[in-house]
Amino acid sequence: MDLFEYQARDLFEKHGVPVLAGQIATTPQEARAAAEQIGAASGGVTVVKAQVKVGGRGKAGGVKVAKNADEAEQYAQEILGMDIKGHTVHTVMIAQGAKIDEEYYFSLLLDRANRNYLAMCSQEGGMDIETLAHERPEALAKVAVDPQVGIDAAKAQEIVDAAGFDAEVGAKIVPVLQRLWDVYKGEDATLVEVNPLVKLEDGDIVALDGKVTLDDNAKFRQAEHADLVDEKSEDPLEAKAKAMHLNYVKLDGNVGIIGNGAGLVMSTLDVVAYAGEEYTGGEAKPANFLDIGGGASAEVMANGLDVILNDEQVKSVFVNVFGGITSCDAVANGIVGALKTLGDEATKPLVVRIDGNNVEEGRRILAEYDHPLVTIEKTMDGGARKAAELAAAAK
Ligand SMILES: Nc1ncnc2c1ncn2[C@@H]1O[C@H](COP(=O)(O)OP(=O)(O)OP(=O)(O)O)[C@@H](O)[C@H]1O
Ligand SMILES: [Mg+2]
Repeated sequence: MDLFEYQARDLFEKHGVPVLAGQIATTPQEARAAAEQIGAASGGVTVVKAQVKVGGRGKAGGVKVAKNADEAEQYAQEILGMDIKGHTVHTVMIAQGAKIDEEYYFSLLLDRANRNYLAMCSQEGGMDIETLAHERPEALAKVAVDPQVGIDAAKAQEIVDAAGFDAEVGAKIVPVLQRLWDVYKGEDATLVEVNPLVKLEDGDIVALDGKVTLDDNAKFRQAEHADLVDEKSEDPLEAKAKAMHLNYVKLDGNVGIIGNGAGLVMSTLDVVAYAGEEYTGGEAKPANFLDIGGGASAEVMANGLDVILNDEQVKSVFVNVFGGITSCDAVANGIVGALKTLGDEATKPLVVRIDGNNVEEGRRILAEYDHPLVTIEKTMDGGARKAAELAAAAK
C-alpha cells in the first residue's frame, strides 16, 4: 500500500525523523484555519500541497507557497479537485514554510533482484531525481543495506560518504538516516523515499516530502496500518472483489479473465496478450487478473463473473479453469447460475475453456444450457484467440 505524503510525514514523526508541522484540509476554509495556525511559526508562510499518490505534484501545479492565510485559502481552492495524472485531489496538506538552503535525495527500498535492501542518496535532490538518475547516474550513490543489520551509524556514514557530503553536513544527516531505517523496519515498508531531504538555512536537516510503501504481507502484525487505507481512492471493483474475498487486480484492457490458481491466471494473461497482438493488432488486452482459487465453488465463480462483467472496459470474458480440486461441473454450474442471475443484463460474450476433473459433465451442463453468449473452446490458445477476437470486434 502506498501512503499519502501526510501519512508518511506522520510515520516519520513517530520514529523521530525531523519533519515540519503539517495539517490536512479538505476545504479552502479548513486550509485557511490550518495556515493561520501553522504559519505562525514561519512568518505566515505555508506550503499548500496536493495529496495524491503520484509523483510530480509540484510540476503539475499541486505544490504552492502561500505568503499568508488568504493565499493558502486561495491555493487550496485551486488545488482541491485538480486532476494530477488521473488522480483527483481530495485533500491538501498545509505545511510550514521552510527556508531551504540545499535539497538532497534519499531512498531505501527493497532490491528484489539482489535479494537485499538498497539505499540511494544524492546531494542533488528536488524535483528531477529521475532525470538525474538517467543522465548523471554517478551523482546518485547506491549502497547495499544488509536487512539483518540495517542502517546503523557506520552504514549511514558509508551512505553519506558515497554521496560525497562534507563532514559537517554528513554528520547531521547520519542520525536522520538511522531514524529513516527505523521507519522502514518498524513499519514493514518496502520503500521510504525522501525528496527533498533539505538543509535549512539554520543548518538543520528536515524531511520535506516523503513517499512510503508498506508491505501488505505484514498486515497481520501492523494492526495500526488498517487506519491508513484510503477507501475513497480505492478502485470500486477492487473493493468489491476484496469484500468477496476474491484475488482480483484491475488492469487496463478489454478481455476479462477468470482462472483458478495464480500460475494459470498469469499464463492466461500472457496468452491473451499474445493473441491480442497476433490476431487483433493489439486491440485486445487483458482487463484484469482474477484467481478464483483451488477449491472454487459455483458461488465463487458467480461472484467473479459479477465483478468482471461490471467492468465497463470489459468487452469479452475468458474463463480458463483447470479442474483439480475444483470440479468442472461446479464451474459450469457457477457460470450458469451467474448468467441466470444476470438475466438480460448479461450482454458480454463468454469464452469458456474447462478441462480436468469431471470435464465431460461440465461441458454437458454448458451445452445443455446453450446460452447464446457462451462459446466453449477446448484449448487455452483457442480460447484466448476467440476471446481476443470477440473483444476487438465489440469495439
Ligand atoms: N514546506 C516547504 N517549504 C518550502 N518549500 C517547500 C516545502 N515543501 C516543498 N517545497 C518546495 O517544493 C518542491 C516540491 O515539493 P515536493 O517535493 O513536496 O513535491 P514534488 O516533488 O513535486 O512532488 P512529488 O514528490 O510527488 O514528485 C520542493 O523540492 C521544495 O523546493
Ligand atoms: Mg518530492
